[in-house]
Amino acid sequence: MSDRRSFYITTPIYYVNDKPHIGHAYTTIACDVLARFWRMDGRDVYFLTGTDEHGQKVEKSAEAAGMDPLAFCDLQSAKFRELAAAMNISNDDFIRTTEPRHIAASQAIWQALEKAGDIYLGSYAGWYAVRDEAFYAEDELTKGPDSRFVAPSGAPVDWVEEPSYFFRLSAWGDRLLAFYDAHPDFILPPGKRNEVVSFVKGGLKDLSVSRTTFKWGVPVPGAPDHIMYVWLDALTNYVTAVGYPDKQAELYQRFWPADLHMVGKDILRFHTVYWPAFLMAAGVEPPKRVFAHGWWTAEGQKMSKTLGNVIDPYELIASYGLDQVRYVLLREFPFGNDGDFSRKSVITRINGELANGFGNLGQRTLSFIAKNAEGRLPEPGRLTEADQALLQHVYGLLPAMRSEMASQALYQALQLWVEAVNAANRYIDSEAPWSLRKTDPERMGTVLWVLAEAIRCLALIIHPVVPQAADRLLDQLAVDSTARSFAAIGTSGALKGGTLLPAPAGIFPRLQDPVAAA
Ligand code: MSP
Repeated sequence: MSDRRSFYITTPIYYVNDKPHIGHAYTTIACDVLARFWRMDGRDVYFLTGTDEHGQKVEKSAEAAGMDPLAFCDLQSAKFRELAAAMNISNDDFIRTTEPRHIAASQAIWQALEKAGDIYLGSYAGWYAVRDEAFYAEDELTKGPDSRFVAPSGAPVDWVEEPSYFFRLSAWGDRLLAFYDAHPDFILPPGKRNEVVSFVKGGLKDLSVSRTTFKWGVPVPGAPDHIMYVWLDALTNYVTAVGYPDKQAELYQRFWPADLHMVGKDILRFHTVYWPAFLMAAGVEPPKRVFAHGWWTAEGQKMSKTLGNVIDPYELIASYGLDQVRYVLLREFPFGNDGDFSRKSVITRINGELANGFGNLGQRTLSFIAKNAEGRLPEPGRLTEADQALLQHVYGLLPAMRSEMASQALYQALQLWVEAVNAANRYIDSEAPWSLRKTDPERMGTVLWVLAEAIRCLALIIHPVVPQAADRLLDQLAVDSTARSFAAIGTSGALKGGTLLPAPAGIFPRLQDPVAAA
């Protein structure tokens, strides 16, 4: 078994009633960047994504499509898998809740809860929102325009009355509060943690965990007219994937408890109240962290099918390029906040930071070497203070970015990288290798070597965000594929003078300026 520190990261599993949109892409890309970052940093990473296929919402969508539910799920789940591939997502597994391994794990967790005495038979009478697959107390609801009740999410609710098994959630309030206390970083960002703590302090009601009025779900063991509440089934996916109920399974031993469940703020309560309570009741250790990110609006408006303004990730990739989309989604506003998608702002940022910033730095340096140094990386001479300052800046990026990544501060991590790119661009301007060509070719060689070395480290450290572009640039620096990890950042991996470099080619084309285009 590996003695490297493990890192298990998950996306939410996506409902198959809808086709994938920018919101799903956002969560998955953020997870992919973290997974790739820790992998390149030498950790033993397991990255899970997948689809949530049971419940009333999916059953209704299949019906509306005139399809058998499983055939409908096969079709829809494939769309999420295809999007992951199109976004160059490096997941280790893709789970579907209709798989036999998951049905078995869900039934096993049910039995563990039952054995612990935390499940009893009763009858549910109350409000339910199919869109959220959530139960609501009447005091959480407001009246919509047609004077019908709506959930806080805006979803319509229906009154349901049916026999149901309950989970004794009311008995877990104090233990949850003690757990949050003992694990101050379990819920991030801190504002979200406060929301959850005050919700739990307000008192918890027992939770209805089975349904009897429809069929599309995991059968309750020993009570075949009941199916499990879709959220109990869905949350279990995170342990199914590592082999639960077999706690001796190799993956379980290596990766449970998960290091990070990444979720949107809409599903925080399920992950930070219900899930740890289910797990503690079932005798399973809760995950180490749940991070809730914010929501995107589109050009200032909430995205919705009715408004027709839902942003399609494929269209974005076609318009701006895959790596550019991966970068810009994480760079428009701090991770954890809500933010707006504006094409003007996205284009300005891609042009500013990728095309004119990093792309131009690489292009200027490499084409200068191609033209003026016969395509060979020059040997460095004595390093000046300015040379050393730039190298120290880029070598020091790794620890600085690592600490931002450890708290999922993706925007701040990228900010550090941008500052280092800017420092390298200032260096090339002030050292002006073009004016040294005739006067001091040796100094020119040193400047070019320092630039190439800085670009190598900048490309390595941004690799998790823009893997294809970074690889293209590293190819142009003749960096061996075995030297593309963070261990190669610093003097140990430094470029060798004299290396023949392949022909340079730009990595980030300039997009048409939105102002000029308007
Ligand atoms: N199936 C549940 C999750 C079960 S996890 C055990 C679910 N699925 S979902 O398809 O509705 O996806 C929800 C997730 O998609 C959100 O939590 C969020 O990660 C992402 N987003 C959906 N719309 C979004 C935005 N407009 N903006 C940002 N992310 C959003 O809930």
